[in-house]
Amino acid sequence: MNTQKQVQDYYGKQLQGSDDLKTNACCDPASMPEYIKPILAKIHPEVDSRYYGCGLVIPPQLEGLKILDLGSGAGRDAYLLSALVGEHGKVIGVDMTPEQLVVANEYKTFHANQFQLSQPNVEFIQGYLESLDTLGLEEGSFDIIVSNCVLNLSTDKLAVLKSAFKLLKPGGEFYFSDVYADRRIPTHLQNDPVLYGECLSGALYWNDFLNLSKQAGFLDPRLVNDRPLTIENAKLEAKVDPIKFYSATYRLFKISELESDCEDYGQAVKYLGGIAESDRYFDLDGHHRFQKGKVEAVCGNTLRMLQDTRFNPYFEFYGDWKQHFGLFEGCGKQLPFNAQQVDLSCC
Ligand SMILES: C[S@@+](CC[C@H](N)C(=O)[O-])C[C@H]1O[C@@H](n2cnc3c(N)ncnc32)[C@H](O)[C@@H]1O
Repeated sequence: MNTQKQVQDYYGKQLQGSDDLKTNACCDPASMPEYIKPILAKIHPEVDSRYYGCGLVIPPQLEGLKILDLGSGAGRDAYLLSALVGEHGKVIGVDMTPEQLVVANEYKTFHANQFQLSQPNVEFIQGYLESLDTLGLEEGSFDIIVSNCVLNLSTDKLAVLKSAFKLLKPGGEFYFSDVYADRRIPTHLQNDPVLYGECLSGALYWNDFLNLSKQAGFLDPRLVNDRPLTIENAKLEAKVDPIKFYSATYRLFKISELESDCEDYGQAVKYLGGIAESDRYFDLDGHHRFQKGKVEAVCGNTLRMLQDTRFNPYFEFYGDWKQHFGLFEGCGKQLPFNAQQVDLSCC
């Protein structure tokens, strides 16, 4: 059986619900924001019981948007997003496993009624993430692409990242949670069907992930949040020891002018408030919280992530691109040279 068939078998036949998982790698105990809890309570129990995600893939300000969910499974995230994009939005889920799609498709009308939509705004398509270009999805048409604990299962992760880049609108974002490892995973572990199916041994070494993202066109991946994974299964833990695993949510913006590093042009932004569910402050990523009313210095990339995206109406922008002041140290990088001058001669 090839890897894709093995994964299909795992999610279609072996697992009947999240209680059947052998580790807690795919299951997300992260606390749910208050505004999502009442929506979650309206999700059909069968859909909810087949949730295998590892993070929360619900960025703010979704009304009216078109969203693609890669590896949508039984549809829990797609239906949460359906409520948030509302009557004028649309959610499309893609998954390769027929058994998952049967459950997802079963409850389209149920959820349209739960969320008081005049008709279902969710569609599920059977397909492989490695060949998204064969599914009739329009390039440059999605505001957001989400995915929850799926990229690690893909046999061609670069192809998936490249397709996501093509399918997004300019200014759109790939906002997704996945499992990462602190080192490259040896082949014998990658070939273990349970470790692979449980979202562990297909995980990317985090630095390989960052480089693949850049190759795909996402030049400045932003880490939103992360947590260490505990496997809580002594046999499987012993097999992977000493590899450490993390669940992390990244946001990758499709903005062609982004630079590979955070550069300082002396620019600043002020959050005006008004982003849905995030009025007092707005978290762009794990290192950038913008308080309403406060002018904050930003690098050129951060400015573009706020100015060239759906967040534009909620910010005021200061400065231009005329003068460059070197690296923006606020994003963590520093001048590599020793600042102390000891000798003026060149030899
Ligand atoms: C860990 S589950 C996550 C499902 C869903 N995102 C959730 O949070 O419940 C992984 C899902 O990805 C799907 N999947 C894995 N590899 C895939 C691929 N190459 N193409 C399409 N779907 C894939 C599986 O069928 C499965 O439904």
